[in-house]
Amino acid sequence: MAAATDGARLMDGPAFRRHRRLRRTEAVRGLVRETELTPAHLVAPLFVEEGLDGRAPIDSMPGQARLGMAALVEEARALRGAGVPAVLLFGIPARKDERGTGAYDDGGVVQEATRRLKDALPELLVIGDVCLCEYTSHGHCGVLDADGAVDNDASLPPLADMAVSLAEAGCDVVAPSDMMDGRVAAIREALDGSGLGDTAILSYAAKFASAFYGPFREAADSAPAFGDRRGYQLDPANARMARDEALTDLDEGADMVMVKPALAYLDVLRQVREAVDAPVAAYNVSGEYAMLKAAAANGWIDETRAIDETLTAIRRAGADVVITYHALEWARRR
Ligand code: PBG
Repeated sequence: MAAATDGARLMDGPAFRRHRRLRRTEAVRGLVRETELTPAHLVAPLFVEEGLDGRAPIDSMPGQARLGMAALVEEARALRGAGVPAVLLFGIPARKDERGTGAYDDGGVVQEATRRLKDALPELLVIGDVCLCEYTSHGHCGVLDADGAVDNDASLPPLADMAVSLAEAGCDVVAPSDMMDGRVAAIREALDGSGLGDTAILSYAAKFASAFYGPFREAADSAPAFGDRRGYQLDPANARMARDEALTDLDEGADMVMVKPALAYLDVLRQVREAVDAPVAAYNVSGEYAMLKAAAANGWIDETRAIDETLTAIRRAGADVVITYHALEWARRR
């Protein structure tokens, strides 16, 4: 009988798998890497502020800024240069009112920004966020009824008007983030009725009532003046309900669906990915960006590696499209 240390015994191989053989060099690691991340998968969210000259840094999102028109075009040019094909626009209007009329003003800040971008960079894919919260004085995502509650059905016409106005200005894609029921159908019908049948809809289908939107609300000045969004955004405890929302939005005519936030919801992202064949986007939101930047600024994590790992994980969980404030930084470094 051969002893365990005998040469013949070793040639048979010990009775366990040698997984590390495929981790020895970068060449072999690259060969077997399952998840690909390229700038082509990324969308950069940008904030455009009416009347602003230049850039106004956002304290809670180091490296991000509210942009004036010229600065916006420069930022988009840099993104294109780095291979990022798309931007998602949020507007900060000079005036707000009870009904959010600035949202569907053809001379509104995002409409104007879209025209400028399309003029300077015709190939840039421009996605317009459709929601009233940046335009209403009360900061809710729809219009209010007599009791001060968000009125779902009364919110549909202004949301549809906003989508049409953005598409007419040149947005290739409109992305409703309001979470009203029936908005995708209302927007599709309005677009088609206005000869805008080529405009795609990316619906924020599974948008959770999340603490991770905090920095965005500061940046976009869109925090609700009273109450919260739990009456219309999803409960963080619910994954099946998120899948149900995605299916409903696709039935209503959405071309792509989104899961948001990304990191605390990677399981939801995976489930939505498996439930639908349409492209799925994930939004790596402001609070996720802020946490990583804050830890890096303190020297507590390796920022570059943490960004790579974050974006790769979102792709691995099932996102075709990753919406992230890290887009420019990541694509440039690559
Ligand atoms: C609503 C909207 C929000 C975000 C995108 N669209 C905020 C909210 O629902 O309160 C959050 C994005 C982020 O945190 O990065 N129009």
